[in-house]
Amino acid sequence: MNLASISENRTFEKRVPITPEIAKKYIDLGLKLFLPNNYGTHLGFNDEDYENVGANLLNDEKEIINNSDIIVQLGLLDEQKQSYLKENQTLIGSLNVSLNKEKLDSLKIKKINCFSLELLPRITRAQSMDILSSQANLAGYKAVVEAFQIYERAIPMMMTAAGTIPAAKVLVVGAGVAGLQAIATAKRMGAVVFATDVRMASKEQVESLGGKFLTVEGTENLETEGGYAKEASDDFKKKQEELLSETLKKIDIIICTALIPGREAPKIIKEEMFKNLQPGSVIYDLAAIQGGNTAFTQLNKIVEKNGVKILGEANILNKLPVSASNLYAKNVYNFILNLYDKENNKLNINLEDEIIEKTLVK
Ligand code: NAI
Repeated sequence: MNLASISENRTFEKRVPITPEIAKKYIDLGLKLFLPNNYGTHLGFNDEDYENVGANLLNDEKEIINNSDIIVQLGLLDEQKQSYLKENQTLIGSLNVSLNKEKLDSLKIKKINCFSLELLPRITRAQSMDILSSQANLAGYKAVVEAFQIYERAIPMMMTAAGTIPAAKVLVVGAGVAGLQAIATAKRMGAVVFATDVRMASKEQVESLGGKFLTVEGTENLETEGGYAKEASDDFKKKQEELLSETLKKIDIIICTALIPGREAPKIIKEEMFKNLQPGSVIYDLAAIQGGNTAFTQLNKIVEKNGVKILGEANILNKLPVSASNLYAKNVYNFILNLYDKENNKLNINLEDEIIEKTLVK
C-alpha cells in the first residue's frame, strides 16, 4: 500500500505529520511512502533524511495523491488538491468535523474514507494516538513561555541585597491537558499558581502539581461521562465571576484554556473584571480560536486594555513545530498501526473497534 502526505499551507501550518523517524517506521511496516520535495526542509528535516530511510520524494503533488492509498495530513486539503482524491482512498488528519461538514460530506459522496483524530475516544487504548492531548500539552507549555516573555517583571521570588522581588502569581483557567501543563511550567519557573475548573476531578490534579485550586462551593460537578466540561448554569457563572473577580486583584498572569466541545469558549474574564487586574498584567488566551475566554481577546493580536496585555493566536503550535510534529507523527503512526492489516496488506475498517468507529467521519 502507498502512504503519502503533501505540504500544508505553511503560512498557517508549519507542522508536518510525517517526520523522518516515523517515515522509517511506516516503511519498516511494509508501506511505500511518497512525499513532495522540501516536505520538511523548513523544520530541518531534509529530503535526504526521508530518502535515506526509503521514502520516495516527487515533484508533482497530483501524482503523489493519485498514487496513494492513505494520505496523512494535519488539516483538510485545499479545494484543488481535494479534487485529486478518488474512490477508496483514505484521508487521516485533524479534519475539524464540526467546522468542515460540507467539505467532508463531498468527500463522503466520492467514497473517500476520512478519519478525523480529534474524534478519538479518551480511552486508555487510544492514549498513544491522542493528538488533542499531545498538542494541548505543548500549547499549555508554550502559552506560559509566551506570557512570561512579555511580562515586564521577574517570575520567581528573588532575594537580593537591593531588596526582594516577589514571585509572580499565575491563574490558570481550565485545568485540562493544556491547563495542567501550564500549571507545571509556571511552577517550574517559580510562579505561585492558582487554577480553576468546573470539573471537580481536576482539583486533585491541580494540587498534585503544587497549584491552589479555586472552587465554586456548593455547585454540581460539571463533567460529562466522557470527561469533558458541560455548559455551566447561570448560578454557577455568577458565583465563578465573584470568586475570580476577587482573585484577579492579586494575579499578574492569566493562562486561559477553558473549552466546551462543539461550543464557543465560555467568556470567563468579563469586561467589568478587567478593572480588578493590575496594569502590566498579561493574559494568554489559548481559547482564542474558539472565541476566547476573555471579553477582549482578538485572534493573532496583542490587545491592550487598561494596561493589561491580552494575547491569543490561531495556532500556537507553529511556535514549536518540530516538537509538535514529532508527537503528532507518532500519534498518527499509532493510529495507522491499529488500522492496518499487515498480513493482508490492507486497511481493516473494523467498526466494532471503538477507536475506528468513532474517528471515521460519517
Ligand atoms: P478541553 O480542552 O475540552 O477543556 C479544557 C478545560 O477547560 C477542561 O478541563 C474543562 O473542564 C475546562 N472548562 C470548561 N469550561 C470551563 C469554565 N466555565 N470554567 C473553568 N473551566 C472550564 O479539555 P481537555 O484538556 O481535552 O480534557 C478533557 C478531559 O479529557 C479531561 O477530563 C481529561 O482528564 C480527559 N483526558 C483523558 C485522557 C485519557 O486517555 N483517558 C487523555 C486526555 C484527556
